[in-house]
Amino acid sequence: MPGYEVHEYDVLVVGAGGAGLRAAIAAAEEGARTAVVCKSLLGKAHTVMAEGGIAAALGTVDPDDNWRVHFRDTMRGGKLMNDWRMAMIHAQEAPERVLELERWGAVFDRTRDGRILQRPFGGHRYSRLAHVGDRTGLEMIRTLQQKAVALGIDVFMETTVSRILTDAGRVAGAVAYRRESGELLVFRARAVVLATGGVGKCYKITSNSWEYTGDGHSLAYWAGADLMDMEFVQFHPTGMVWPPSVRGILVTEGVRGEGGVLLNNKGERFMFNYIPEYYRAETAESVDEADRWYTDKRNNRRPPELLPRDVVARAINSEIKAGRGSPHGGVFLDIATRMGREQILRKLPGMYEQFLRLADVDITKEPMEVGPTMHYIMGGVRVDAETAATTVPGLYAAGEVAAGLHGANRLGGNSLSDLLVFGRRAGLHAARYAASLAQVPSISGDEIEEIANEMYAPFHCADGENPFSIQKELQETMQDLVGIVRTGDELKEALRRIQALKERAQRVSVPGNQQYNPGWHLAMDLRSLLTVAEGIALSALERKESRGAHTREDYPKEDPEQAKFNLVVRRNSDGEPVLEKVPRPELPEEVRKILEEA
Ligand code: FUM
Repeated sequence: MPGYEVHEYDVLVVGAGGAGLRAAIAAAEEGARTAVVCKSLLGKAHTVMAEGGIAAALGTVDPDDNWRVHFRDTMRGGKLMNDWRMAMIHAQEAPERVLELERWGAVFDRTRDGRILQRPFGGHRYSRLAHVGDRTGLEMIRTLQQKAVALGIDVFMETTVSRILTDAGRVAGAVAYRRESGELLVFRARAVVLATGGVGKCYKITSNSWEYTGDGHSLAYWAGADLMDMEFVQFHPTGMVWPPSVRGILVTEGVRGEGGVLLNNKGERFMFNYIPEYYRAETAESVDEADRWYTDKRNNRRPPELLPRDVVARAINSEIKAGRGSPHGGVFLDIATRMGREQILRKLPGMYEQFLRLADVDITKEPMEVGPTMHYIMGGVRVDAETAATTVPGLYAAGEVAAGLHGANRLGGNSLSDLLVFGRRAGLHAARYAASLAQVPSISGDEIEEIANEMYAPFHCADGENPFSIQKELQETMQDLVGIVRTGDELKEALRRIQALKERAQRVSVPGNQQYNPGWHLAMDLRSLLTVAEGIALSALERKESRGAHTREDYPKEDPEQAKFNLVVRRNSDGEPVLEKVPRPELPEEVRKILEEA
């Protein structure tokens, strides 16, 4: 076993996207010695993929908007599977978090009278997304990064955390390695905040980049925390489909928010055929009516392209399956006939560049080809709504890695406000917890050695399995059998294949040495990829209904009985996952009243 450096902090934040940076800022402002560890370079995070805006009921464009409507929209979008308290805190605090970001230097697009401009997005009753063209996530990261650097927070870049260390069940730190040199690092920390984002890389077609291998979900699970609602996986309706090298890259919902329409190969606006009863009263029923909406946005009916993502993704999937798709297996998204060139270049500059450079398509002249792409997981680490604490003392989780806020389906733009609201809470409460400890929890040399032996094992396994082949087979399994529409038989087959891949992953071998060795990095990531994939498939098999982003062909309806529990995956003493159905609390009367307001 190689030697290792030891670093000591009060609060260690794993992940440097929006949630991680906001947590680190809150912890440092609370007086905690804070460090951020990130797998990639600082600023390169999936947060930038939330391009279209931050959802917050500022009411700058629609004065009728307020936190109660935002709360109601979030709960309805999540099919009432949301943790209502998280959804309430989120809706109440989001406006202040956005204004705070502005005070820290974020430059938002403006209304004519100089206020923050807000655009419409799927499932939001009012124009609610504060935005910076189609680069909102990037502006948010830039602002948070500047603030964190100004506070003097230590940053360990290109460093991956392999395991959380515990002492008598409490967090004691983490073991990590530098990706460039392969050197081992040990962090002693009183509290750890997980803000690692999602799990996209266990699917073949995803908007997520290489970092998103379910690390935080797995670190928490291995440390004894609960994973909840893992069956709820969001397929963003619009990813690029062509050329193959860019398949899955996000096409922001902002295109539809600005008036873009979805067409099949017959030129039909097919979304009119897919409006669920639930949304009829508030969704345009004809092309003319939808067009009137764009010219007079005071009209409260929305075009069907702005239905929640689960509905739009399923509709696109059905059109493609019925043979009405585009030449490369998607559908068409047209903004060129809806908006002038100048306006497109001003409102959607990122999309213009993306299509021109990557697909040789000029979106001011021709439609885009788009199709669903795995974008986000609503499920994750079970946390306390007020503090973001997991069930392991000293371990906190915020952002995509945490479950609860979004229920069965997340509304676009609610991710960025989630990162700000719960990132701040996680950092604050982690710092307070750290300060409350009389002494630093101890770390065990034996435990570190055991973890290191496991990490370096692929170098000592001759003629073993190739990690790239295992990841490819896993991605195909998840895409084909645990995708937008699922069946019990397919899920059982997926679990059988995942089990076989888990066994093969025990015998991976990698050539070369530990200095920047992508095969070795993937060999370690496989453990978390397989952990989250199994959690998703197990939960999806257990939830015998269709709700939000979870669609079962064999159980096509919502079943109120099934909505009475959350599915929790926990590790047993043999290291195997076990599922528990955890009863959901009744909604308080006060909450019911808000949900009934329309
Ligand atoms: O479409 C988008 O701009 C993505 C936003 C989000 O996922 O919140």
